[in-house]
Amino acid sequence: MPLLKLLHFTALICWCGTLLYLPALIAAGTRSSETLFYRDHAHLTRMVFTLIATPSALVAIGSGTALFMRDLIFDPWLIVKLTAVAGMVMCHALCGVLVLRIERYPERSLTRQCVLISVLTVALITATLWLVLAKPSF
Ligand code: HEM
Repeated sequence: MPLLKLLHFTALICWCGTLLYLPALIAAGTRSSETLFYRDHAHLTRMVFTLIATPSALVAIGSGTALFMRDLIFDPWLIVKLTAVAGMVMCHALCGVLVLRIERYPERSLTRQCVLISVLTVALITATLWLVLAKPSF
């Protein structure tokens, strides 16, 4: 398998994995009775976001852009795929907002917001994978 595509896949697995895991991690970090739990949990959540999710998102997008520039694909499915990826980036940013929120107000429940982001993320990842694997001609 060409190395660039392998890099794209590896980064995607890490990015999509953390994007699915983060809302659950954030929701689990609220409404505890111990202050020490809040501090450690918020620290762990921030580390997952800054050390795994964000770098792998940058590598996934960078390698995808390199694949696009190498093969010069201008098919409609790629344009629609990029729209779905933009939605995934929005979910990533929203997770970042929630990470900040649990650091500032750890006692507030964020379950509803986390469920909403999870559902949106699953739908966008599924749509992206379908678009890139089926390559519909529209
Ligand atoms: C800005 C972000 C991205 C860009 C510019 C991009 C671009 C590309 C390009 C140009 C290809 C090569 C297509 C081909 O050879 O036919 C590709 C392959 C692929 N991309 Fe992305 N991509 C991005 C993000 C993503 C994301 C977020 C996912 C999944 C959730 C994804 C999944 C895939 C898969 C599975 C392939 C392999 C398709 C195949 O070999 O048939 N990509 N990407």
